[in-house]
Amino acid sequence: MSIIYHQEQRIWTLETRHTAYEMQVSKLGYLIHLYYGAKTADRMDFLFEPYDLGFSPNPYELRTEKCGTPDAYPQEYSGMNAGDFRLSSADAVTASGIRGADFRYVSHEILPGKYRVSGMPSAFDRDDEAETLVIRLRDKAAGLIAELYYAVFEETDVITRAVRLVNGSEEAIELGKAASACLDLPEGDWDLIHFHGKHTLERQIERVPVMTGIQTVSSKRGASSHQQNPFVILCGREASEDFGDCYGMMLVYSGSHRIETEKEQSGTVRCVAGINDETFSWHLAPGEAFETPEAILSFSGTGLGTLSRQYHRFIRKHICRSKYMHERRPVLINNWEATYFNFDETKILHIAEEAKKLGVEMMVLDDGWFGTRDDDNSGLGDWFVNERKLRGGLTPLIEKINALGMKFGIWVEPEMVNEDSDLYRAHPDWALTVPGRDPAMSRNQLVLDLSRKEVVDWLYGALARLLLDHHIEYVKWDMNRHLSDIYSRDCPADRQGEVPHRYVLGLYDLLERLTKAFPDVLFEGCAGGGGRFDAAMLYYSPQIWCSDNTDAVERLYIQEGTSYGYPASAVGAHVSAVPNHQTGRITPIGTRGVTAMSGGFGYELDLGKLTEAEKEAVRSQIARYHEYYDLIHEGDYYRLTSDSRRLTHTAWQFVSEDKGSSLVSLVMAAPRLNSGPLRLRLKGLDPEASYEVVRMEIFGFEPPAPKNGRKVFSGAALMSGGFVFPMLWGNYPSAQVYLKKV
Ligand code: DGJ
Repeated sequence: MSIIYHQEQRIWTLETRHTAYEMQVSKLGYLIHLYYGAKTADRMDFLFEPYDLGFSPNPYELRTEKCGTPDAYPQEYSGMNAGDFRLSSADAVTASGIRGADFRYVSHEILPGKYRVSGMPSAFDRDDEAETLVIRLRDKAAGLIAELYYAVFEETDVITRAVRLVNGSEEAIELGKAASACLDLPEGDWDLIHFHGKHTLERQIERVPVMTGIQTVSSKRGASSHQQNPFVILCGREASEDFGDCYGMMLVYSGSHRIETEKEQSGTVRCVAGINDETFSWHLAPGEAFETPEAILSFSGTGLGTLSRQYHRFIRKHICRSKYMHERRPVLINNWEATYFNFDETKILHIAEEAKKLGVEMMVLDDGWFGTRDDDNSGLGDWFVNERKLRGGLTPLIEKINALGMKFGIWVEPEMVNEDSDLYRAHPDWALTVPGRDPAMSRNQLVLDLSRKEVVDWLYGALARLLLDHHIEYVKWDMNRHLSDIYSRDCPADRQGEVPHRYVLGLYDLLERLTKAFPDVLFEGCAGGGGRFDAAMLYYSPQIWCSDNTDAVERLYIQEGTSYGYPASAVGAHVSAVPNHQTGRITPIGTRGVTAMSGGFGYELDLGKLTEAEKEAVRSQIARYHEYYDLIHEGDYYRLTSDSRRLTHTAWQFVSEDKGSSLVSLVMAAPRLNSGPLRLRLKGLDPEASYEVVRMEIFGFEPPAPKNGRKVFSGAALMSGGFVFPMLWGNYPSAQVYLKKV
């Protein structure tokens, strides 16, 4: 039993393998957050000491006692306009003008299994592992009920949360904010780690002290965005990769989000996460309910590495639904960087044939195959073949590719429309634009109004037709602009604030229907690279194209930042041509392989243009990838270097769950002058076991013969002493070491 209710003290303890989460109903009915951290045998109610605080009001019931302001209570779901001036979790106004919420306990229940969030992705339970706790709070003035949902995943050390806000009054309520979770941490020196970026440079690591006041990580772009990922870590100032307390807060949401962290006057810290309230409002008629997206919380007392592995396991096991979490995904070749829009059947077939010779298993036809799409100015919305490029349609091409013994996959960008398209000409009102204002253009395209059911239904029809009529085994789902000029012609004036979230619900509805109807199709998410790399998209697609930056060195940092919250199995990564199209950098083919071989692996260049030696390298990469597949996709991931942009090299390691094998990868971004060979302490091995170096491959540099020919080491020696690499220098050399228990 992972949820225990201690009736006398009115305490709930939520227990996972290594962590405990506790809350209590106070005498006055506040739901107090007592503790989240390493498991203890004690009840933690001694930690709650109400106290008086100048200029912070006390509850009415305590007025002569003057002690115990809610402004200093650690709370599970903070109210608004009722004496707590810190970040609120919900904001509401009733038709008669009552603003805010003073949430007090009403009831609770413990349920078997995992709650689900309607209309939205949320974690699922595979082996009846989870339990659910529902705690009902109510504001008596507004009649607003907050049902707090908690699910405990014991094995993976995760607690998920979501909230259902119910209008329990006789009049309408306008929600202005509806957070998914609120987490109060005690006073201390906390750091905030977040993952920011831009197009072609997603999820860069920034670690800053939590300062007094509010720090915000958010997006109001209608997508979880390249700019700020909906995931933050709060950790002790001293916390590092293998040491210290760390809390993760991740949203299962692909739209505009907001995660705020506030250090208030007494030094305690509150983190509130949910839909971005700047672009949100929701109308609740009496009896209606609003469900928030889910938040995934996890705690590690042994550093950031453990926290990441907890998220990796959880996402693999409880978020990604696709059958391709367990079935092998094919090594693919994508024509985008090989041809851009400039292709025809002959060119595509040539790329496929060359790729097939080297062991590639699937040909993915990217942007440009449909409508009148010869550049990015037209065609989006017209999901029928561009006959000028592919005479006779897709089928003859697919048949030829299948005849080569390859699968066929295709690119789509369903959420968008070009003005120059049949779809727009037929339905100009289906695009999000504000009446009377020229819309802001991005890549010369507009966003379809997915808050409208007829638009979602039409898209479902068009995409289902495409998948039914053709033997397509993979779909790359792209999204190449953010939402501006948000106005839905289908929505009453006073409810336009609902459109951004309704758009996301429409997207989920479309993805739900398609992934259900076509369970054998492998979906890969994409949004101009990794602009929508979030847990909700991973619910539909087990991998996401991580970035439009395919440079093997820049990708190290993008993939490292991504690894804090998301598993390698979720990362789409390709070997591309040199000079690299984004940075102009020239890296050895072997190093490009090492970087890309940390996720869903593929190629994105004309392999026919490679030298014979490079082709041989590709053949060998593919063979190795097959050999290492389980380690990469299901193994535990260890960062051997962190914040590597500051270093000369980046290194990471996969270890199989049974600790029987391990793959260590190292890329040198800068040669180390006048320094000895690099020594890296490995992680995650069995200290008692002996490991043999089955294979050490060096790429981009011919190392001198090793002086020490020793091949077998104890796990303890490799972890405490380290593995010594030969001197690597030159332009971006790399190494891969494969170890096996003997
Ligand atoms: C952005 C994607 O990230 C690229 O891989 C490619 O598919 C282009 N869009 C095509 O327009």
